Amino acid sequence: MMANALEFPEALLLKLRSAARVVVLTGAGISQESGLRTFRDPQNGLWRQYRPEELASLEGFRRNPKQVWDWYAYRREAVKGARPNPAHYALVEMERHVPYFTLITQNVDGLHQMAGSRNVIELHGNIQRVRCSVCGESALDWEDDGLEVPRCERCGGLLRPDVVWFGESLPAAALQAAVEAARQAQVFFSIGTSGIVQPAASLPYAAKNRGALLIEINLETTPLTPRADFAFHGKAGEILPALVRASWGE
Ligand code: OAD
Repeated sequence: MMANALEFPEALLLKLRSAARVVVLTGAGISQESGLRTFRDPQNGLWRQYRPEELASLEGFRRNPKQVWDWYAYRREAVKGARPNPAHYALVEMERHVPYFTLITQNVDGLHQMAGSRNVIELHGNIQRVRCSVCGESALDWEDDGLEVPRCERCGGLLRPDVVWFGESLPAAALQAAVEAARQAQVFFSIGTSGIVQPAASLPYAAKNRGALLIEINLETTPLTPRADFAFHGKAGEILPALVRASWGE
Protein backbone atom coordinates (compact mmCIF):
# COMPACT_ATOMS: atom_id res chain seq x y z
CA MET A 1 0.00 0.00 0.00
CA MET A 2 1.23 3.49 -0.81
CA ALA A 3 0.42 6.16 1.70
CA ASN A 4 0.56 9.90 1.49
CA ALA A 5 3.74 11.14 3.18
CA LEU A 6 2.20 12.65 6.28
CA GLU A 7 -0.92 10.58 6.72
CA PHE A 8 -0.32 7.44 8.67
CA PRO A 9 -2.82 4.60 8.59
CA GLU A 10 -4.14 3.67 12.02
CA ALA A 11 -3.18 0.02 11.43
CA LEU A 12 0.44 1.06 11.10
CA LEU A 13 0.39 3.28 14.20
CA LEU A 14 -1.26 0.57 16.28
CA LYS A 15 1.27 -2.02 15.21
CA LEU A 16 4.19 0.29 15.85
CA ARG A 17 2.97 1.29 19.32
CA SER A 18 2.46 -2.29 20.37
CA ALA A 19 5.59 -3.82 18.84
CA ALA A 20 8.23 -5.03 21.28
CA ARG A 21 10.87 -5.51 18.60
CA VAL A 22 11.47 -2.84 16.01
CA VAL A 23 14.43 -2.87 13.64
CA VAL A 24 15.52 -0.04 11.39
CA LEU A 25 17.93 -0.32 8.47
CA THR A 26 19.36 2.97 7.23
CA GLY A 27 21.43 4.02 4.24
CA ALA A 28 23.05 7.14 2.86
CA GLY A 29 19.66 8.78 2.23
CA ILE A 30 19.13 9.41 5.93
CA SER A 31 22.27 11.55 6.04
CA GLN A 32 21.48 13.40 2.83
CA GLU A 33 19.66 16.14 4.76
CA SER A 34 22.79 16.52 6.89
CA GLY A 35 24.59 17.57 3.72
CA LEU A 36 26.36 14.28 3.02
CA ARG A 37 26.26 12.92 -0.49
CA THR A 38 24.58 9.62 -1.23
CA PHE A 39 26.22 7.06 -3.52
CA ARG A 40 23.67 6.65 -6.27
CA ASP A 41 21.79 9.93 -6.47
CA PRO A 42 21.39 10.60 -10.21
CA GLN A 43 22.89 14.11 -9.98
CA ASN A 44 25.09 14.25 -6.93
CA GLY A 45 25.80 10.62 -5.99
CA LEU A 46 29.43 9.77 -5.21
CA TRP A 47 29.35 6.79 -7.58
CA ARG A 48 28.24 9.08 -10.42
CA GLN A 49 31.49 10.99 -10.08
CA TYR A 50 33.96 8.41 -8.77
CA ARG A 51 34.67 4.81 -9.63
CA PRO A 52 33.95 2.45 -6.74
CA GLU A 53 36.38 -0.19 -8.01
CA GLU A 54 39.19 2.41 -7.80
CA LEU A 55 38.24 4.00 -4.50
CA ALA A 56 36.39 1.36 -2.53
CA SER A 57 38.17 -1.91 -3.17
CA LEU A 58 41.33 -3.58 -1.92
CA GLU A 59 42.62 -3.82 -5.49
CA GLY A 60 42.11 -0.08 -5.92
CA PHE A 61 43.96 0.55 -2.67
CA ARG A 62 46.84 -1.69 -3.73
CA ARG A 63 47.09 0.06 -7.08
CA ASN A 64 46.93 3.59 -5.73
CA PRO A 65 46.83 3.78 -1.92
CA LYS A 66 47.37 7.52 -1.85
CA GLN A 67 44.36 8.20 -4.06
CA VAL A 68 42.14 6.03 -1.88
CA TRP A 69 43.53 7.48 1.36
CA ASP A 70 42.95 11.05 0.11
CA TRP A 71 39.40 10.31 -0.99
CA TYR A 72 38.53 9.01 2.46
CA ALA A 73 40.30 11.98 4.06
CA TYR A 74 38.09 14.23 1.96
CA ARG A 75 34.95 12.36 2.99
CA ARG A 76 36.09 12.30 6.64
CA GLU A 77 36.28 16.09 6.55
CA ALA A 78 32.74 16.28 5.16
CA VAL A 79 31.53 13.98 7.94
CA LYS A 80 33.31 16.07 10.59
CA GLY A 81 31.33 19.10 9.45
CA ALA A 82 27.99 17.25 9.40
CA ARG A 83 25.40 17.19 12.17
CA PRO A 84 22.47 14.80 12.67
CA ASN A 85 19.16 15.90 11.12
CA PRO A 86 15.55 15.43 12.29
CA ALA A 87 15.46 11.89 10.88
CA HIS A 88 18.37 10.80 13.09
CA TYR A 89 16.73 12.41 16.12
CA ALA A 90 13.37 10.80 15.37
CA LEU A 91 15.07 7.40 15.59
CA VAL A 92 16.55 8.35 18.97
CA GLU A 93 13.02 9.12 20.10
CA MET A 94 11.67 5.88 18.64
CA GLU A 95 14.28 3.91 20.58
CA ARG A 96 12.97 5.45 23.82
CA HIS A 97 9.51 3.99 23.17
CA VAL A 98 10.37 0.52 21.90
CA PRO A 99 11.41 -2.20 24.36
CA TYR A 100 13.86 -3.89 21.96
CA PHE A 101 15.07 -1.52 19.31
CA THR A 102 17.89 -2.19 16.88
CA LEU A 103 19.29 0.31 14.44
CA ILE A 104 21.31 -1.26 11.64
CA THR A 105 23.16 1.21 9.48
CA GLN A 106 25.17 0.96 6.30
CA ASN A 107 26.46 4.45 6.93
CA VAL A 108 30.01 5.06 8.07
CA ASP A 109 29.38 8.62 9.27
CA GLY A 110 28.55 7.96 12.94
CA LEU A 111 25.62 10.42 12.86
CA HIS A 112 23.20 8.02 14.54
CA GLN A 113 25.48 7.75 17.55
CA MET A 114 26.09 11.50 17.53
CA ALA A 115 22.32 12.04 17.64
CA GLY A 116 22.09 9.73 20.67
CA SER A 117 21.00 6.35 19.27
CA ARG A 118 22.31 3.58 21.50
CA ASN A 119 21.79 0.18 19.99
CA VAL A 120 23.50 0.78 16.65
CA ILE A 121 25.01 -1.92 14.45
CA GLU A 122 27.48 -0.55 11.91
CA LEU A 123 27.53 -2.96 8.99
CA HIS A 124 30.06 -1.11 6.83
CA GLY A 125 32.45 0.21 9.49
CA ASN A 126 33.13 3.79 10.47
CA ILE A 127 35.08 6.37 8.51
CA GLN A 128 36.61 7.91 11.63
CA ARG A 129 38.41 4.69 12.44
CA VAL A 130 41.55 3.55 10.69
CA ARG A 131 43.37 0.24 10.74
CA CYS A 132 46.51 -1.30 9.33
CA SER A 133 46.03 -2.91 5.92
CA VAL A 134 48.63 -5.55 6.83
CA CYS A 135 48.30 -6.54 10.50
CA GLY A 136 44.82 -5.16 11.14
CA GLU A 137 45.85 -3.16 14.21
CA SER A 138 43.48 -0.23 14.85
CA ALA A 139 44.99 3.20 14.87
CA LEU A 140 43.23 5.92 16.82
CA ASP A 141 45.77 8.58 16.07
CA TRP A 142 47.80 9.03 12.96
CA GLU A 143 49.90 11.73 11.36
CA ASP A 144 48.94 12.72 7.87
CA ASP A 145 51.54 14.94 6.24
CA GLY A 146 49.48 15.06 3.06
CA LEU A 147 52.35 13.51 1.10
CA GLU A 148 52.29 9.85 1.98
CA VAL A 149 49.79 7.37 3.34
CA PRO A 150 50.39 7.08 7.10
CA ARG A 151 51.87 3.80 8.33
CA CYS A 152 51.09 1.42 11.15
CA GLU A 153 53.16 2.07 14.29
CA ARG A 154 53.40 -1.64 14.95
CA CYS A 155 54.33 -3.20 11.61
CA GLY A 156 54.88 -0.32 9.21
CA GLY A 157 52.03 -1.38 6.91
CA LEU A 158 49.89 1.22 5.18
CA LEU A 159 46.88 2.45 7.14
CA ARG A 160 43.45 2.23 5.57
CA PRO A 161 39.98 3.37 6.60
CA ASP A 162 38.11 0.86 8.78
CA VAL A 163 35.25 0.54 6.32
CA VAL A 164 34.02 -2.35 4.23
CA TRP A 165 35.05 -2.24 0.59
CA PHE A 166 33.48 -4.01 -2.36
CA GLY A 167 34.47 -7.65 -2.34
CA GLU A 168 35.20 -7.65 1.41
CA SER A 169 33.27 -9.44 4.11
CA LEU A 170 31.23 -7.50 6.60
CA PRO A 171 32.32 -7.60 10.25
CA ALA A 172 31.02 -11.05 11.23
CA ALA A 173 29.60 -10.20 14.65
CA ALA A 174 27.79 -7.13 13.32
CA LEU A 175 26.28 -9.08 10.44
CA GLN A 176 25.17 -11.91 12.69
CA ALA A 177 23.55 -9.51 15.15
CA ALA A 178 21.80 -7.73 12.28
CA VAL A 179 20.43 -10.96 10.80
CA GLU A 180 19.26 -12.12 14.22
CA ALA A 181 17.51 -8.80 14.90
CA ALA A 182 15.87 -8.79 11.46
CA ARG A 183 14.52 -12.31 11.95
CA GLN A 184 12.94 -11.35 15.26
CA ALA A 185 11.55 -7.99 14.15
CA GLN A 186 7.84 -7.31 14.41
CA VAL A 187 8.23 -4.05 12.54
CA PHE A 188 11.11 -3.43 10.13
CA PHE A 189 11.92 -0.07 8.54
CA SER A 190 14.11 0.41 5.48
CA ILE A 191 15.06 4.08 5.32
CA GLY A 192 17.09 5.99 2.75
CA THR A 193 18.73 3.01 1.13
CA SER A 194 18.60 1.94 -2.49
CA GLY A 195 18.53 -1.64 -1.23
CA ILE A 196 20.86 -3.10 -3.80
CA VAL A 197 24.06 -3.75 -1.89
CA GLN A 198 24.25 -7.20 -0.33
CA PRO A 199 24.07 -8.56 2.27
CA ALA A 200 22.37 -5.53 3.87
CA ALA A 201 19.74 -5.55 1.12
CA SER A 202 18.52 -8.99 2.17
CA LEU A 203 17.70 -7.96 5.77
CA PRO A 204 14.24 -6.49 5.02
CA TYR A 205 13.31 -9.71 3.20
CA ALA A 206 14.52 -11.82 6.14
CA ALA A 207 12.29 -9.77 8.43
CA LYS A 208 9.29 -9.85 6.12
CA ASN A 209 9.60 -13.60 5.58
CA ARG A 210 9.38 -14.09 9.35
CA GLY A 211 6.22 -12.00 9.56
CA ALA A 212 7.45 -8.47 10.23
CA LEU A 213 5.49 -5.48 9.04
CA LEU A 214 7.74 -3.87 6.44
CA ILE A 215 7.85 -0.09 6.06
CA GLU A 216 9.94 1.82 3.58
CA ILE A 217 10.82 5.51 3.67
CA ASN A 218 12.64 6.77 0.59
CA LEU A 219 12.55 9.63 -1.89
CA GLU A 220 11.94 7.07 -4.62
CA THR A 221 10.69 3.60 -5.25
CA THR A 222 13.28 0.86 -4.84
CA PRO A 223 13.36 -2.87 -5.57
CA LEU A 224 11.96 -3.34 -2.06
CA THR A 225 8.90 -1.12 -2.55
CA PRO A 226 6.60 -3.84 -3.94
CA ARG A 227 7.28 -5.98 -0.85
CA ALA A 228 6.65 -3.17 1.64
CA ASP A 229 3.40 -3.08 3.60
CA PHE A 230 3.69 0.69 3.69
CA ALA A 231 5.92 2.83 1.48
CA PHE A 232 6.34 6.53 2.13
CA HIS A 233 7.96 8.59 -0.58
CA GLY A 234 9.59 11.78 0.60
CA LYS A 235 12.35 13.04 2.84
CA ALA A 236 13.20 10.95 5.85
CA GLY A 237 13.77 14.18 7.81
CA GLU A 238 10.13 15.07 7.33
CA ILE A 239 8.39 11.70 7.39
CA LEU A 240 10.14 10.10 10.38
CA PRO A 241 9.54 12.92 12.90
CA ALA A 242 5.90 13.06 11.80
CA LEU A 243 5.54 9.30 12.18
CA VAL A 244 7.10 9.30 15.65
CA ARG A 245 4.82 12.18 16.70
CA ALA A 246 1.77 10.41 15.32
CA SER A 247 2.72 7.19 17.12
CA TRP A 248 3.78 8.43 20.53
CA GLY A 249 2.78 12.10 20.68
CA GLU A 250 5.05 15.04 21.40
P1 OAD B 1 22.49 4.86 -2.11
O1 OAD B 1 23.13 6.12 -2.55
O2 OAD B 1 22.60 3.66 -2.97
O3 OAD B 1 20.94 5.10 -1.87
C1 OAD B 1 20.46 6.20 -1.15
C2 OAD B 1 18.95 6.11 -1.14
O4 OAD B 1 18.46 7.15 -0.32
C3 OAD B 1 18.29 6.26 -2.50
O5 OAD B 1 17.36 5.22 -2.66
C4 OAD B 1 17.61 7.63 -2.44
O6 OAD B 1 16.38 7.64 -3.16
C5 OAD B 1 17.36 7.76 -0.96
N1 OAD B 1 17.33 9.14 -0.44
C6 OAD B 1 18.12 10.18 -0.78
N2 OAD B 1 17.86 11.26 -0.04
C7 OAD B 1 16.85 10.91 0.81
C8 OAD B 1 16.13 11.58 1.84
N3 OAD B 1 16.37 12.85 2.16
N4 OAD B 1 15.17 10.89 2.50
C9 OAD B 1 14.89 9.60 2.18
N5 OAD B 1 15.54 8.92 1.23
C10 OAD B 1 16.51 9.55 0.55
O7 OAD B 1 23.04 4.57 -0.63
P2 OAD B 1 22.99 3.21 0.22
O8 OAD B 1 21.75 2.46 -0.06
O9 OAD B 1 23.31 3.57 1.61
O10 OAD B 1 28.74 0.70 0.70
O11 OAD B 1 24.20 2.44 -0.42
C11 OAD B 1 24.54 1.19 0.12
C12 OAD B 1 26.03 1.01 0.11
O12 OAD B 1 26.55 1.25 -1.20
C13 OAD B 1 26.79 2.00 0.97
O13 OAD B 1 26.84 1.63 2.33
C14 OAD B 1 28.15 1.96 0.37
C15 OAD B 1 27.76 2.03 -1.09
O14 OAD B 1 28.69 1.53 -1.97
C16 OAD B 1 30.03 0.62 0.95
O15 OAD B 1 30.77 1.58 0.91
C17 OAD B 1 30.47 -0.75 1.33
